[in-house]
Amino acid sequence: MLLDQNLLPMRDYHKAKRLMWDPQDLDFSQDKRDWEGFDEQERSLVRCALTLFLGGETAVTDDLSPLMVALKREGGHLEEVMFLTTQLFEEAKHVEFFDRALGEVIGDVPALEPLAGENYKHLFQALGTALEALLTDHSLKAQARAVASYHMIIEGVLAETGYYAIFKAMRARSLMPALTQGLEYLQRDEARHIAFGLHLLARLISTDPAVWEVIDGQLNTLLPLAQGVYFEVLSPFAPNIPFGLDLGDVLEVAGKHYFARVGVLERARHS
Ligand SMILES: [Fe+2]
Ligand SMILES: [Fe+2]
Repeated sequence: MLLDQNLLPMRDYHKAKRLMWDPQDLDFSQDKRDWEGFDEQERSLVRCALTLFLGGETAVTDDLSPLMVALKREGGHLEEVMFLTTQLFEEAKHVEFFDRALGEVIGDVPALEPLAGENYKHLFQALGTALEALLTDHSLKAQARAVASYHMIIEGVLAETGYYAIFKAMRARSLMPALTQGLEYLQRDEARHIAFGLHLLARLISTDPAVWEVIDGQLNTLLPLAQGVYFEVLSPFAPNIPFGLDLGDVLEVAGKHYFARVGVLERARHS
């Protein structure tokens, strides 16, 4: 057999086929009614959060393909390339989902630039730089820097914390059912992406333990930026953040996601 079906990327490749969902199937009519009942502060936060999510999904869709190029050049990792084909398709659907949510609920798609703070801009610049580098450098260290940025920080910390905050905000009052339903599908996709990132980093570490320094350095550089995004988004509303959200609680969740990912990598490093 050409393919090793026991590898995590192959198992999750099959799972991605089985768990396919279509953003077009969601009905945002109740979400729109909920939006119309929001006050100005609530609208401002939802508009900002969805716009930043759309910007993030657009960036990860645009930025992912150099990792496929690097794996191809390294050779011998067809299962990982096949998994990444599902990831790229799913990131495109996530763009479609947030674009549709904004269009149908809010009525337009706000410009990203005025809503993105410095931490957000620096974080996504760092992501683009790390992935773009793979077009000319497919070394294990370059791959490790890219995956630490993409799968560990952007997906594993920034996005996961965002789902937590949106679920917490919406579920307490049973608001925006299509948004929360879509986010559940999306979070399921992202769990596979993050698991793939951990798998790939563990493989890189076991091939060359020196890549750990690169991973550790990149994680330590980018974690404060990811947490800074939540500070930028929520602190202007403090002390009365809409939907009962608490900045300290959200930052703590970001930290927990970070340490959970690092814990897995530490175990891979010492195994
Ligand atoms: Fe995504
Ligand atoms: Fe993803």
